[in-house]
Amino acid sequence: MNTQLLIDTARKLVADNKGLLAMDESNPTCDKRFAKLNIPQTLEARRAYRELIVTTPGLGECISGAILYDETIRQQKKDGTPFLKVLTDAGIIPGIKVDAGAKDLAAHPGEKITEGLDGLRDRLAEYFQMGARFAKWRAVLTIGDDIPSRSCIEANAHALARYAALCQEAGMVPIVEPEVLMDGDHTLEVCRKVTEEVLRNVFIQLNCQRVMLEGMILKPNMVLPGLTCPPRQEVKEVGIGEQQYQVRLTDRQPDEEQDIDEVADITVKTLWRTVPAAVPGIAFLSGGQSAELASARLNLMNLRFKSQLPWAVSFSFARAIQQPALEIWRGLEANVKAAQQALLHRARCNRAARRGEYTAAMEKK
Ligand code: 13P
Repeated sequence: MNTQLLIDTARKLVADNKGLLAMDESNPTCDKRFAKLNIPQTLEARRAYRELIVTTPGLGECISGAILYDETIRQQKKDGTPFLKVLTDAGIIPGIKVDAGAKDLAAHPGEKITEGLDGLRDRLAEYFQMGARFAKWRAVLTIGDDIPSRSCIEANAHALARYAALCQEAGMVPIVEPEVLMDGDHTLEVCRKVTEEVLRNVFIQLNCQRVMLEGMILKPNMVLPGLTCPPRQEVKEVGIGEQQYQVRLTDRQPDEEQDIDEVADITVKTLWRTVPAAVPGIAFLSGGQSAELASARLNLMNLRFKSQLPWAVSFSFARAIQQPALEIWRGLEANVKAAQQALLHRARCNRAARRGEYTAAMEKK
């Protein structure tokens, strides 16, 4: 195992307040996002969109590594220049998604296991040869009635660790992504408990499979309430004589600033309890948060805690960097420049968030 190469790559991926750009949507996921905007779901449209991303002027100022999909890593610009060359010329390290997707876990209704270990050693060798220096594997955990089950958590943690060990053997830094989904009506506290349990299991398995923690990056979810979590209710104690009554005052949506505060706080505490200091970086997925909220929450974590944290706290967003650009592009050549500006804007906002210098005013410019 080339220990020094792995340590150097992992450090470069989180250096200089830059972060990762996830542009590794599988064809079905990419097509689904295109369909919503009436963009043709074709090989050429996916190529043109990825060309727009990798040729964005100045992207390398904010992005240290880009995660590609198997189709994309083999593609070129219209003029024939390979995307891999465009990225490396911009100082961006190419990475590759290597899992084969989340499939139903047998005997566990509503739960998934990520597949893709068969033949992985050979695929990693090919990607390394092509120039990829890091890889990604995503596990998904759903919160619901009695789930995630212990067996689902353990099976996914085991697969992540087997993948990570194979990556390191091949000289590629594993991005270890256990995603606790936002879908559901669970509270922030339930997400915290599940995320903590998942991360504990992941690190038990990583140690068991002898993964070198200094040569990996963790890509977790932020700790968030479920998307359909009912609004919190404000309850007030009122006293009449000896008797105390609880009066429900209002149903209210959590105030956004309080929400950002709580999420930043609880997320950092959860990571603190579970992620060893030897890990060089934590790069969050965005998971369906709005682009602005993802930046604001990342910013507050760095603003409040950066000087006390053993690992870099960074980003590896797909939707929270790409979505505004995709909505501008809509498949039209005439919109490429404006879409690239939107992409660069989000990348800059997130780089500022790594320094704790992101402000709402940046969005108004
Ligand atoms: P989102 O940032 O859109 O959650 O995607 C991150 C990712 O890479 C999912 O695997």
